[in-house]
Amino acid sequence: MAKSEHIVSAERRREMARVRKPQVWCYFSIPVYWHTAGGDFVLVKAPGQYLRDRLGSDLPLPEELYVFKKDKAAAVPEVQAALNAELERIMAGQDVEGVKQLITDIVEETFSEPRAGTMLPLKDTVKTVVAGYAGRKEAFRRIALMGSKDYSTVLHSVNVSALVLAYCAHRGLPKDRSVDLGLAGMLHDVGKLFVDQAILAAQRKLTPEEFAKVREHPLLGHHFLRGADFPSEVMEACLQHHERIDGQGYPKGLSKPSFAGQLVGIVDCYEALTSDERHYREALDPLPTLALLKQEMLSGKFDQSLFKEFAYSLV
Ligand SMILES: [Fe+2]
Ligand SMILES: [Fe+2]
Repeated sequence: MAKSEHIVSAERRREMARVRKPQVWCYFSIPVYWHTAGGDFVLVKAPGQYLRDRLGSDLPLPEELYVFKKDKAAAVPEVQAALNAELERIMAGQDVEGVKQLITDIVEETFSEPRAGTMLPLKDTVKTVVAGYAGRKEAFRRIALMGSKDYSTVLHSVNVSALVLAYCAHRGLPKDRSVDLGLAGMLHDVGKLFVDQAILAAQRKLTPEEFAKVREHPLLGHHFLRGADFPSEVMEACLQHHERIDGQGYPKGLSKPSFAGQLVGIVDCYEALTSDERHYREALDPLPTLALLKQEMLSGKFDQSLFKEFAYSLV
């Protein structure tokens, strides 16, 4: 269990990481600090207790709560477990927006400390969603198409996963397979966590060197996930989602990518197209985007029957 200090001076600011609200209630084994106006950090919760035990649930939560960066990785599993349990609870209700927010929180927490082993509990997240919305493709679609203010790799991953699950529900695929494919959607871009964020966020044309860096993400992600025991379709999707059946994709130029690689590839393209200027938007009509994708399909990039089934899963 981590040892706690009562006051951490302002000079040690760079050792601290700010925590988000839903996550902070889940910390048990590590200390949590309040960042005071004077700059110091004051202990609000010691290891071995929850914040709720200290503050009660009625008191307002201080805005600026921090943990030591070095403690954060150790606490990821307890945060995932608590958020996964909360997800299971709210899946029973009608609050699809709340469900999406919670999935996003879980993925964000997991991606914030990228280690292959810490990615595994995402399987429980996808399992809960598949069980909760069994066969309801419209629920998955709503999750994916819900507008959001800050688009990121995290949100893209959640959206791709939800669209893959809408496809699985549409096809009536067995639950286990749906979970594997949904997880594949969630983790397909995990390699981007190892690409310089400044390149990913650049609002300009990338240099050839930068572009080459971005194109490394399938290999980086695949290499990273090999450190844990993931289903083969997760590994295939991660490595092959930018392959195209005309052989013009990357990293290998395969003309026969796996099913998971092709499915996640097509969903990924669709999601990226609908995400342009998605800020503040409500669900975008899928038809114009499908028309664009259809062009790609006709030019030989995507399998025709897969494209059709995916399109039917959206309408
Ligand atoms: Fe990608
Ligand atoms: Fe992607």
